[in-house]
Amino acid sequence: MGSGRVGASIAFLCVSNALDDVLLVNRNKNKAIGEALDIANAIPENSKFSIHGTDDYSQISGSDIVVITASVGVYMKDRTENIVLQVKMIKEIAQKIKQYCPSTIVLIVSNPLDVLTYFFQKESDLPRFKVIGIASSLDTSRFRYLISETLSVPQSSIYNALVLGEHGDSMVPVFSGVTVGGNPLFSMIDSRDSITEGVRSYWKKLRSFKSRSQFGIAKNTFDVIDSILHKKEITIPASVVLEGEYGENDVAMGVPVKIDQNGICEIQNVKLDDTESSFLKKSSEKIRNYIKSIHT
Ligand code: 2OP
Repeated sequence: MGSGRVGASIAFLCVSNALDDVLLVNRNKNKAIGEALDIANAIPENSKFSIHGTDDYSQISGSDIVVITASVGVYMKDRTENIVLQVKMIKEIAQKIKQYCPSTIVLIVSNPLDVLTYFFQKESDLPRFKVIGIASSLDTSRFRYLISETLSVPQSSIYNALVLGEHGDSMVPVFSGVTVGGNPLFSMIDSRDSITEGVRSYWKKLRSFKSRSQFGIAKNTFDVIDSILHKKEITIPASVVLEGEYGENDVAMGVPVKIDQNGICEIQNVKLDDTESSFLKKSSEKIRNYIKSIHT
């Protein structure tokens, strides 16, 4: 749902990797059809799958996975800028999914990510482990990239990089478990401040050069779709409604989850140092305040 840059990039990866049939749904029917016609030319010769575009929600019926990238408009400075309208939109989509494919797995990509993951799950009544907000894995890709650039080491030498919490300014890069070439990251950097700031503001820097991010989120979302459809378990940080995990209730935020063909099968515990734990608490509070600010 949503066939803008991000939706179309995810669809391109699914189609060009012959993953499954893809349907692009957009309020603007021409946009959905146009992107589908373009992406259709990336169907490999030996693929049995196709892609189509529509503005007719009823066609999602029977979908195994629904990916939501839709958005009411552009935000410039903060992912929460259009929060009220985005929540309204996600609730409408939740109703459609409830109506047409209530046993699907839903991947939320639209912002504000954690708030929308929360409201979608509540409104749709889908089991919380079938509603997965994809963003912390993107933030983790950025964390790994910045470590690699800062230390001039290949990403392949970096282990256990992880970003938790809000997909927003309070996100929490977890430094304490990271090793680089087998050595603790902490032995190679003076402070966590500049990398933390770099990860948090990465999207703004990117936007100062091009209008919007698309490929990183597309690949991170594709990996989840691939793992679900091919029954390959993966463990990534993703947003999910919490019921006691990490001491949190009634909020959704990025935590490490294991995903299998049925959605999330486990929320994993990772060791955090005191700084990380207190940052994570602040992050959950921030998301909760946004949630409370919406009058349902
Ligand atoms: C990103 O982090 C804007 O959420 C989007 O690139």
